[in-house]
Amino acid sequence: MEYTEEVMDHFLNPRNIGDIPDADGVGTIGNQVCGDMTSVYIKVADDRIVDIKFKTFGCGAAIATASKTTELALGKTLDEALAITRDDVADALGGLPEAKLHCSNLAADALHVAIEEYRAKG
Ligand code: FES
Repeated sequence: MEYTEEVMDHFLNPRNIGDIPDADGVGTIGNQVCGDMTSVYIKVADDRIVDIKFKTFGCGAAIATASKTTELALGKTLDEALAITRDDVADALGGLPEAKLHCSNLAADALHVAIEEYRAKG
């Protein structure tokens, strides 16, 4: 199984790791197949993501994809961040091995849930 340099970089040096105690929105997604899970925390100002952090109980690909997801989402409007797909994350990492594609679901989906939770609070 081959990982790109970009995947290895985000795995070894994850960006935006941790949580935000007073987050405006939190999303947690688990993968039923492997049992791994990822949480994404966001702070929102003027309809933009001004801070974002993640925590994952997951494999190397889950760490790398969560790190990349936070990088892609930071500074985006909520609508732009909602439009970030699992494929966008995998593409931004230069691709993932076929067997690891499902790992990119966690953070992208958790980001969307965090945004929905924020919006539901009105
Ligand atoms: Fe579970 Fe990658 S194997 S997220």
